[in-house]
Amino acid sequence: PNVTEMVGLNDFQWAARHYLPGKNYTYYRNGAGGEWSYRNNLEVYNRYSLKARVLNDITNVEDSMSTTILGFNFSNPFFISPCARADYAHPDAELNLMKAASAADTLYIISGFATKSIEEIAAVAAENYTFFSQLYTTSNDTANQILFDRSEAAGAKALIWSIDAPGSPSRQRASRYGVTSAVTKLTRLTWDVYAKYQKMTTLPIILKGIQSAADARAAIKHGVPAIILSNHGGRNLDGSRSSLEVALEIYKEDPAVFREIEVLADGGVRYGTDALRLMALGVKAVGLGRPIMFSNVFGEEGVAKAIEIMHSEVMNDAANLGVADLKKINAEFVDWTPNNWY
Ligand code: FNR
Repeated sequence: PNVTEMVGLNDFQWAARHYLPGKNYTYYRNGAGGEWSYRNNLEVYNRYSLKARVLNDITNVEDSMSTTILGFNFSNPFFISPCARADYAHPDAELNLMKAASAADTLYIISGFATKSIEEIAAVAAENYTFFSQLYTTSNDTANQILFDRSEAAGAKALIWSIDAPGSPSRQRASRYGVTSAVTKLTRLTWDVYAKYQKMTTLPIILKGIQSAADARAAIKHGVPAIILSNHGGRNLDGSRSSLEVALEIYKEDPAVFREIEVLADGGVRYGTDALRLMALGVKAVGLGRPIMFSNVFGEEGVAKAIEIMHSEVMNDAANLGVADLKKINAEFVDWTPNNWY
């Protein structure tokens, strides 16, 4: 297939499945355990129907696509979630992601397990582009300090600390190919450790992998500037809830969270309408993981196309929903009683 034939994000998965060696495709595609969370991440959005309003003037909806994350300006209310091993799709690996994201002024969070070094990736960014750096830490603070300092020196404007994988995931499909997770096992992750890290860097540290209203509230208490709701794309704890379910819990139990901290979210976002449901609850921007990794089979052009498709879908779906200003989308645009479509 050709990149121009890609009309939706799922097309990239289809292309990758046909094009990549089984081992590489499977590492990207795999979920943990019985993959219930993986599937739920995809299906959950359709449980909540959209309540379109009509005859709203939507002529300015495109202007409202831009957003800020930690005060930095971006053109899209979505971002590239950090994913390991971009070389499984393309020899230029993460360089393609950085080039395409920076050209589209869309946030890219570099994975701590990127194949290229953060210095190499940062070097191909467009001028004045803001990117963030994700990392996993270990109990070795000398090594952690080096990671923090390298990210800062390379130009990252925030660190993302992924906290949803303190144990080894069971990813059976990939294991059959001999591919395992790169994450270090049984690391001690606690709120005290967060406070310690904050003293080791001047960069803000975002927590990735918040999965409950209680922990979102705890993050606020510990001075965290932003959180990413995530169950790691269903790759770590099978049976864990999707970000939409967690966002809904926050909305019902502690909605002030959305005003007191920046809430981002990822998992299973494949259509503009998925993003809109998360944003309706107060999520500021949504992350794309696998669709971007799959789009990289076409290199930079593929990643650019995936971003373009998502941009167009979020904008047009918002217009069809009757959202005149994405910054004012709210929970009234969605029926939060689960439907019985299937
Ligand atoms: C990931 N994810 C991930 N997260 C992280 O914090 N650091 C990492 O290195 C990785 N690596 C990684 C590799 C691959 C192949 C995938 C698919 C995912 C999780 C990622 O950031 C994100 O949370 C999910 O991918 C979002 O779900 P979707 O969009 O893939 O459904």
